[in-house]
Amino acid sequence: MKVLANDGISKSGVEALEQAGFEVITTKVAQEQLENFINSHDVAVLLVRSATKVRKDLIDACPSLKIIGRGGVGMDNIDVEYARNKGIHVINTPAASSHSVAELVFAHLFGLARYLHSSNRDMPLTGDTKFGELKKAYAKGTELKGKTLGVLGFGRIGQATAKVAIGVGMKVVAYDPYVEKANLELDFFDGRTLDFEIETISKEDVLKQSDFITLHVPAQKDYVIGKKELNAMKDGVILVNASRGGVIDEVALVQAIENGKVARAALDVFENEPKPEIQLLMNSALSLTPHTGAATNEAQDRIGTELATQIVSILKTEKV
Ligand SMILES: NC(=O)c1ccc[n+]([C@@H]2O[C@H](COP(=O)([O-])OP(=O)(O)OC[C@H]3O[C@@H](n4cnc5c(N)ncnc54)[C@H](O)[C@@H]3O)[C@@H](O)[C@H]2O)c1
Repeated sequence: MKVLANDGISKSGVEALEQAGFEVITTKVAQEQLENFINSHDVAVLLVRSATKVRKDLIDACPSLKIIGRGGVGMDNIDVEYARNKGIHVINTPAASSHSVAELVFAHLFGLARYLHSSNRDMPLTGDTKFGELKKAYAKGTELKGKTLGVLGFGRIGQATAKVAIGVGMKVVAYDPYVEKANLELDFFDGRTLDFEIETISKEDVLKQSDFITLHVPAQKDYVIGKKELNAMKDGVILVNASRGGVIDEVALVQAIENGKVARAALDVFENEPKPEIQLLMNSALSLTPHTGAATNEAQDRIGTELATQIVSILKTEKV
């Protein structure tokens, strides 16, 4: 049985699938050639990340498909219900990348708190001629320890981020319309664990109390952070969006940076992905990454092996 991993898959995922007797094809097939490729190779399992689109027409045109797998969380690139109604299994790996995204949030937070995003831009240009000026320009850093992190969206990644924050010594406040409280178990290198129960509070209170705010919500119709929400935040707040483009109003964010409401911010995701607005790319108050929240070897390994485990178990149960 053939598996086409069209947006790539980790070596561990390939090995797990091959051990279970699958033939894994890792050629990247162009979107417009997918239908032909799947049919001519009799592909039973199509694995994608966010790049390949699996829409109704492709699903209709490829009767050999039994499973569509998304390595990662959001399935906006797949017509999930349509596929399921046709008897195709649609799977994803929702938990595999949570800790990696949480660590990227902290990479940005530590960087922004100490101006690394700017200093890394300036040092190659003027580090040898204006060392003293740069030292002064970046003298007013802040520590994260003792500060309050506001988490908007307290699901898997929000909670993973809260755990890192607690480990760093921050206070965590969270808002989520569907999560009342969460029990966070922090596990340490020596096997010890510590439990923290966090009760969510109102969005207004999170905006008002937080020194740093991070978003971990799904894509939705309206902005979660627009002008009104920005105005409700503390002066000089630092923001991170590593969830989905379109949950922060980018125009309002740039204005809030210009008027000093927001001190600095980090974006891993963009409204206009994969062509973020040039005003964002050139803004020296922004720490930027190209949607790399889940891009660690560990997360990709977990994604690959979790997909393989699910595929094997589905096909075993169905005895295909
Ligand atoms: N940057 C990356 O590379 C990367 C990687 C993986 C996932 N993500 C994204 O991160 C986001 C969170 O993923 P997750 O696995 O934690 O999802 P999740 O479903 O576990 O959690 C999302 C939470 O957001 C809450 N929520 C929904 N609307 C809200 C709102 N308006 N205000 C506050 N809370 C709201 C939900 O109730 C839910 O508890 C998703 O958008 C996902 O696509 C990004």
